[in-house]
Amino acid sequence: MSTVILGIESSCDDTSAAVIKDGYLLSNVVASQAVHEAYGGVVPELASRAHQQNIVPVVHEALRRAGVTKEELSAVAFTRGPGLMGSLLVGVSFAKGFARSLGIPMIDVNHLSGHILAHFIKAEGDENRQPHFPFLCLLVSGGNSQIVLVKAYNDMEILGQTIDDAAGEAIDKCSKVMGLGYPGGPIIDKLARQGNPKAFTFSKPHIPGLDYSFSGLKTSFLYSLRNWLKDDADFIEHHKEDLAASLEATIVDILMDKLRKAAKQYGIKEIALSGGVSANNGLRNAFREHAARFGWNIFIPKFSYTTDNAAMIAMTGYFKYQDKEFCPMEAPAYSRVVLQ
Ligand code: KG4
Repeated sequence: MSTVILGIESSCDDTSAAVIKDGYLLSNVVASQAVHEAYGGVVPELASRAHQQNIVPVVHEALRRAGVTKEELSAVAFTRGPGLMGSLLVGVSFAKGFARSLGIPMIDVNHLSGHILAHFIKAEGDENRQPHFPFLCLLVSGGNSQIVLVKAYNDMEILGQTIDDAAGEAIDKCSKVMGLGYPGGPIIDKLARQGNPKAFTFSKPHIPGLDYSFSGLKTSFLYSLRNWLKDDADFIEHHKEDLAASLEATIVDILMDKLRKAAKQYGIKEIALSGGVSANNGLRNAFREHAARFGWNIFIPKFSYTTDNAAMIAMTGYFKYQDKEFCPMEAPAYSRVVLQ
């Protein structure tokens, strides 16, 4: 009998549903929320309201595109956390109601494990390359910057993580300071392609071990900008490409320095990239350069699996289904948590 998993993701500002059948992705529907653009960041209350509006049509569309009926589902996998509590509650409550009404098990998925296991999603037409265990994963998003040692689908260890801001958060905040739109990541990425990465220098952290820090860089960027604006009120307009390229280069250097250190320390050359910031072209190029220079076997996700999506939740749910790792109806959502 086939195993058909419905995945549901609602941890931040994307409502998504996906269907995986016997390990193969059949559909992945994502409804993004444009409502936050006007505010320069995600407004939690607006996010949960939009999730409430989107969840039913998104699930309906995911099932329709997959060509499966709800009666064919084996289990419902859902993001239990971490994320915005109001947003999570919409997906968690829907998953509970749906699973209960169908009499099928529920599988709770940690959003961060989902980002990492996105590398195992198989879809028709996809290049079927998957990392071998153990591998290192650089997980960089708007809320996290971590180096994770992935020993198995269900055995992961955080080797290092940010002690303050995440890389994506730093990019978004610097972009906001420059008066660019939201989210800043894709805008900075586009501008950076036309700028000189060596035009400006910003401070880099000196944190021991494999941890990261990005708050100092953010402050350095802000103070430098303020100084330059004193002499030239149009400084940003005149230099936005170089500013974006230099900021991106600094962040990529910080990320890669620690990743290189981890790879050396653990003697691992199987290296993956995950999370929203993994869409960044500068970071992708740095991965390719490291592969050529150090003989790394690298895994860079498809763009559609970089930002929040339910395909990665359904994939993780599929693995947990094999081990019969189900969760009880009373399992609450969690906003903050370590990787599990
Ligand atoms: O993983 P994600 O979708 O959401 C979280 O779970 O945080 O990551 C969102 C982050 C945002 O900070 C966004 O600006 C960043 O990913 N991002 C990028 C790019 N695309 C998205 N950062 C740099 N370059 C990009 N092309």
